[in-house]
Amino acid sequence: MDIAIVLLAAGQGTRMKSEQPKVLHQVCGRPMVEYIIDAAAELKPKKFVAVVSPASAEQVGAALPRSSQAVVQKEALGTGDAVRCALPLLNDFDGTIVILCGDTPLVTGATLVNLVKKHKERAAAATVLTAKVDDATGYGRIIRGDGGVKRIVEHRDATEMELHIREVNTGTYCFDAAKLTAALQEITPANSQKEYYLTDVIGIFFDHREKVIPFQVADSLETMGVNSRAQLADAEMIMQERINLEHMANGVTMIHPALTYVDAGVRIGTDTVIHPNTFINGSTVIGSGCLVGPSTRIVESTVGNGCEITFSVVRESKLADGAIVGPFANVRPGTKVGAKVKIGSFVETKKAVIGAGSKVPHLAYIGDAQIGSDVNIGAGTITCNFDSTTKHQTTIGNGAFIGSDTILVAPVKVGKRAYTGAGSTITKDVPDDSLGIERADQRVIKNWRKREETGA
Ligand code: UD1
Ligand code: MG
Repeated sequence: MDIAIVLLAAGQGTRMKSEQPKVLHQVCGRPMVEYIIDAAAELKPKKFVAVVSPASAEQVGAALPRSSQAVVQKEALGTGDAVRCALPLLNDFDGTIVILCGDTPLVTGATLVNLVKKHKERAAAATVLTAKVDDATGYGRIIRGDGGVKRIVEHRDATEMELHIREVNTGTYCFDAAKLTAALQEITPANSQKEYYLTDVIGIFFDHREKVIPFQVADSLETMGVNSRAQLADAEMIMQERINLEHMANGVTMIHPALTYVDAGVRIGTDTVIHPNTFINGSTVIGSGCLVGPSTRIVESTVGNGCEITFSVVRESKLADGAIVGPFANVRPGTKVGAKVKIGSFVETKKAVIGAGSKVPHLAYIGDAQIGSDVNIGAGTITCNFDSTTKHQTTIGNGAFIGSDTILVAPVKVGKRAYTGAGSTITKDVPDDSLGIERADQRVIKNWRKREETGA
């Protein structure tokens, strides 16, 4: 039997109190709707229809598989109305429709596969993915009867007795396509929220003596719906634990996983050790045998093998094998360092290419610079890249030695194996093998102390 997915992602997300569509809020650095899209792909659906809001259309649309279609629900009139919006795109489809919600990012592909399997085995007209939870607040309650599901009653419409039921609707279902289409014609907004509830279809099926069965998920954490910021934080924590467990299973050491924050798209090599309070974001790739953290943030960057990054921030940059960063370095976008480069304490870099073996060990600003290999940059060196209107380049050749406290007024070039004298303000190019020095000769006044004391 063929499968069509209908993904509901057009809700307003009122309880989030946000300008942003709910399903685009991020869990571990990724819009939550993308997780469910990935899980759904495991069902190998013949059709994939996403119901989106005018506001979420573009971004949700971009995350969808290529073969899918999006339909805009102009007004969020309820989950039942949302499914109705999808039906015109499925009118020639007569298999099983799997309904998914864009706000349940923790559902796994394996659970969906098991749900569909059960639905087929039992030849049900509808199968509801349910969960037993300790706190059922906000969820629809499963009213069982006649060996199946009789009805789903929403929290806000439930009686005192029904509120005690701990088996809840997860918002994920399998339906026979033709029967779902027929039942959706019968739903009305006669409820506390004046919405068309998809859940009412279950009661209609039951009344028509159609077989509706529950399928209880093994781990109820999977089916948590995200409707508020507090639930978003819960989902983040659960997803983070999953991501970290996977990295550990793949050979990454995490000293304190609960204090290690790794986004969904990150890749980390074996034998890398991550210390606490570390954030690794975006699609960062870290090699093997690295030491990362404590208290480090790496965003959208590539880190080679055997690197060491401590107490530092690295953004949109590339570090080759054996690079050392920190403690207390700020590696800003566009920094590319070669093998074994050292960027030490209180150093800031930006749009800087630094060749293999070079060292910027302390207290420097290197921006808009091309630095060759085996260069030593002394403490306190500053590239003056900005003249108040334009950014200018500093170029330093291989093997150069930049004396401490050199001010490099760009545009300026220091040649291969050249030197600059400590404390110099370099405004003119220094040719290869030369010394650029700019400072007044030192005066020595003998017996100065004596003169001070005698007033002579
Ligand atoms: C829904 C279920 C509830 C279940 C819970 C599980 C209904 C009436 N209730 O409640 O039984 O326990 O999910 O998490 O279905 N959406 C649209 N268009 C709309 C309204 C919603 O596309 O007009 C989408 C939302 O973006 C969301 C999903 O449908 O992805 C569920 O909507 P939501 O408002 O979160 O429903 P709940 O109140 O959580
Ligand atoms: Mg919800």
